[in-house]
Amino acid sequence: MKFTKVLALTLAVLMLAACFVGCGKVEESASDANIEEKEKLVMATNAYFQPYEYYEGDKIVGIDAEIAAAIAEKLGMELEIKDMQFDSILTAVETGSVDFGMAGMTVTEKRLESVNFTSSYATGVQSIIVKEGSPITTVDDLYAEGAAYKVGVQLGTTGDIYSTDDFGSDNVVQYSNGNEAVMALQGGAVDCVIIDNQPAKALVEANEGLVILETSYADEEYAICVAKENTELLEKLNKAIDELIADGTVDKIIAKYIK
Ligand code: ARG
Repeated sequence: MKFTKVLALTLAVLMLAACFVGCGKVEESASDANIEEKEKLVMATNAYFQPYEYYEGDKIVGIDAEIAAAIAEKLGMELEIKDMQFDSILTAVETGSVDFGMAGMTVTEKRLESVNFTSSYATGVQSIIVKEGSPITTVDDLYAEGAAYKVGVQLGTTGDIYSTDDFGSDNVVQYSNGNEAVMALQGGAVDCVIIDNQPAKALVEANEGLVILETSYADEEYAICVAKENTELLEKLNKAIDELIADGTVDKIIAKYIK
């Protein structure tokens, strides 16, 4: 009787042990599978900014989307793009809800106080869109004595920040994207729209009766922003960008979208 009890106990212990080993094995193979799955790289953008980022059906395409995809491939990671309001991107990056922001974003001193920027991968110019026949014919007209033109901009962009500085917030109307600003221009709510030159071209092509002034408003550099503390990612991104610039990939992508 005693012997049987001991045997039973021993068997139970052995079975339990076998189960642990077994369970351990299951877990191990599950984590192996996880390692094979690519790590995600999450990008924040505002996809109303052709040709840098815009929707083709339900897919976000454009210069930034393609350069980001090339970077992710280099890093062996899977790219996920999150579309949001332009003025939410910096906070998303700072708080770590995304890994980086890429949105035709201009490097500015002010932004450098809250995030880091990679090396620049493209240049931008702030352009002025007016209706054909507008009394505004050069950038200087905006500064003319007694002029109180209403300027339409995309909220939080450099076009917004610079024109608010120059013309005062009473003369600047902020819209959630360039398209809405252009609608306002056509409807007469604003006298001009200040926005990056390539999106300006796309907007003028898509809408009747608009022109871009020959004189531009500001010259800028575009780069990717990363949280201050994420220096490891910054280094990886810089290395990837440098390589993609050196081997001509960046130029090729830009040439595909800007003829
Ligand atoms: N270059 C401007 C800026 O950095 C405008 C960028 C807007 N980008 C966008 N995806 N909507 O402020």
